[in-house]
Amino acid sequence: MSAGVALEAFGLVKRYGGVEALRGANFQARAGEVVALIGDNGAGKSTLVKCLSGAERPDGGEIRLAGERVEFATPTAARRLGVETVYQDLAVAPDLDPAANLFLGREIPRRGLLGKLGMLDKSGMKAQAVEHFRRLGVTLPSIDVPIAALSGGQRQSVAVARAVMWASRVVFMDEPTAALGVVQRERVLEVVRRVRDEGIAVVLISHNMPEVLAVADRIEVLRLGTRVARFTAADATLEQLVAAMTGALTHDEDAA
Ligand SMILES: Nc1ncnc2c1ncn2[C@@H]1O[C@H](COP(=O)(O)OP(=O)(O)O)[C@@H](O)[C@H]1O
Ligand SMILES: [Mg+2]
Repeated sequence: MSAGVALEAFGLVKRYGGVEALRGANFQARAGEVVALIGDNGAGKSTLVKCLSGAERPDGGEIRLAGERVEFATPTAARRLGVETVYQDLAVAPDLDPAANLFLGREIPRRGLLGKLGMLDKSGMKAQAVEHFRRLGVTLPSIDVPIAALSGGQRQSVAVARAVMWASRVVFMDEPTAALGVVQRERVLEVVRRVRDEGIAVVLISHNMPEVLAVADRIEVLRLGTRVARFTAADATLEQLVAAMTGALTHDEDAA
């Protein structure tokens, strides 16, 4: 393991019936970096993320978290070890306010008897939420409205903020900006950068190559279920990325 490696996959295999979605895929995410995972449709990106976040069990290969071999039985098991995922389809509860969304499933009870009776520490959670949004630069028109009243970009920022709040090691983001306009997209990417700067490994799946080149530190390319290339983003060109995705170029730059 090289220094700072958060999560690694070695030779991952995943079959769905007769389809081999992952054929010995390698992958690496390092602490304090944004690594983009790119590849054509069907390359295996979502399957890889599912295997690395506990949503699917691989049929072969090995996963290491901070150098230790792990097997995530469920997404909850992965979360407990600091690995969170922001899914493509917005995973927020529309009727709840932003603070309630941050603490969904992890609510803080009130102290003492009231807590034992199931009362929640709403003001405590709200104060933590406000501080967390401030730190990440997430600006919301109001903290007291249901998520449904926010814009798409604001909702996505809340989804990202929630994952980050609980992720101590790795956050996977499968197309987090796909549904957003230009300005909203830029806001979400700014949140992504701040998360990276806190020392977490951010894995960004995106079809938007200019976005990948703008926000990623490294890029890993999947094709037909295996990693075919990796680049340092600062040295990569759009042409190289496209060539790698289509199989015209293999490139392995172990940017230490
Ligand atoms: N649940 C599933 N059942 C059957 N085939 C699947 C399933 N999920 C993915 N696949 C297949 O695995 C391959 C990789 O898919 P996927 O990981 O979604 O690729 P990507 O996210 O890169 O577009 C594709 O051929 C896809 O059809
Ligand atoms: Mg996908």
